[in-house]
Amino acid sequence: MVEAKIEPTFEAWRTAARAMLLSDTRPADIFWNDGSTATLPLFATSQLVSQTNVPTPLFTIPRGFLALAKTLAFHRDIERWPLLYRILHRLTHGEPELLEIVVDDDVYRLLEMEKSVRRDIHKMHAFVRFRKIEQNTGEVYAAFHRPDHLIVPAIGPWFARRFPVMRWTIFTPDASVIWNGTGLAYGPGVASSTADEDGVEDLWLTYYANIFNPARVKISIMKKEMPVRHWQTLPETRLIDELLRDAPARVEEMMKRTQALPASEYKNTAANAPSHTAAEFIPQTTRLSVLHTASQDCKGCDLYCHATQTVFGQGPTDAVAMFVGEQPGDQEDLAGQPFIGPAGQLLDEILQQVGINRLQCYVTNAVKHFKFEPRGQRRIHSKPNAREVNACRPWLEAEVALIKPRMMIALGATAAQSMMGPQFRVTASHGKVLENSRWAPWFMATIHPSALLRIPDPKLKAESRQQFIEDLMVASVAMRSRTR
Ligand code: URA
Ligand code: SF4
Repeated sequence: MVEAKIEPTFEAWRTAARAMLLSDTRPADIFWNDGSTATLPLFATSQLVSQTNVPTPLFTIPRGFLALAKTLAFHRDIERWPLLYRILHRLTHGEPELLEIVVDDDVYRLLEMEKSVRRDIHKMHAFVRFRKIEQNTGEVYAAFHRPDHLIVPAIGPWFARRFPVMRWTIFTPDASVIWNGTGLAYGPGVASSTADEDGVEDLWLTYYANIFNPARVKISIMKKEMPVRHWQTLPETRLIDELLRDAPARVEEMMKRTQALPASEYKNTAANAPSHTAAEFIPQTTRLSVLHTASQDCKGCDLYCHATQTVFGQGPTDAVAMFVGEQPGDQEDLAGQPFIGPAGQLLDEILQQVGINRLQCYVTNAVKHFKFEPRGQRRIHSKPNAREVNACRPWLEAEVALIKPRMMIALGATAAQSMMGPQFRVTASHGKVLENSRWAPWFMATIHPSALLRIPDPKLKAESRQQFIEDLMVASVAMRSRTR
């Protein structure tokens, strides 16, 4: 038995797991200790896994697995570490297709745990409510939330992008995170059983000074996922007036000393070197959910730096038709689902009119991150350029390869040209069913519902709407009448 002593982070687990694989250690022979469990089996020989000098091994590990593992690292259950290693060991010892076997106990557990973390992250995005606290140095906002899992490092950058101009702090029982307008810092949790929405203000006043006391907590600027070094709740310390009074100033000072970057640069440092296309982020898989999960980590172009999340396609694997839009909009970006905002509602309405059931269609976009220009508090849609469309096309190809739709429908010029080339003209070819494109037996392009919604002239708008209905009627008839 060996002990793998790690910090509770994906990076630490990965380093240790590599070392264990290299030394050919069997899953059953490892005791994983991430500091959250105090007791060691008596027979364990302690082995502190070095964080450095572990050579990169030659194993090929499915990319989809690493994406799942990253999310799973935020799970609260200590069992995640041995589970991940067991799966990794099996993947590299004769079962490379293991992740495809959903009924396998380990894989099933992995997917369930991963889903639970993702749900928890979405819940936190949706339910954190800030309270304004007036300070002599200005307003700050504070919130308390009780996530199921250890997801604070996962949500910090999201809130920083969402609320870049506010100064805010989010407390949870496990960890806290503060944004001062330029950088993120993480501190310990607050062991408060009384903190509800009304208690937040007291909580803030009581803990702020202590938690973000540079003498006690090593603060660093968030780069990517932050190693969670300080998750243990500090023993409660008495409130010190003096500390409290100058706490905001000290935090500012601290941020300066840690070389806080301007918000815009901070976003870019979240990037590893940007690569040219999405291809290298796409796992070999026959499962749509694996593809979906992997897409969350895509850095195929720079758009991921500013958007909330990848908005992957949605719909059944056996969909007959696939609709491809341009890129997610503001609401899609926040919800993580395509076509749920105004354009999606219009699409739904007209699909219903022409007798196409959206639930039987797969709906996706040519570009999977929201591109926008900030204007005040609003985010204004900005058209993706050719480089971004090219970078993202491999995701569309991967979706098509799995779903094999009988009919592809491009909504608007961006999608149509991504699939048919830059010469393609929606104005000239809309509503015509083209046979045997490289994408599907039938291909059709039509106007984009967002474009339709943006037409100011009521008469033109009504005409375009009519055109849109007629085009989709053609698609509807084609889908029913032709067989293959
Ligand atoms: N417009 C698009 O192209 N896609 C969406 O998902 C929403 C609006
Ligand atoms: Fe990847 Fe596409 Fe997002 Fe660019 S837009 S980061 S290629 S998913």
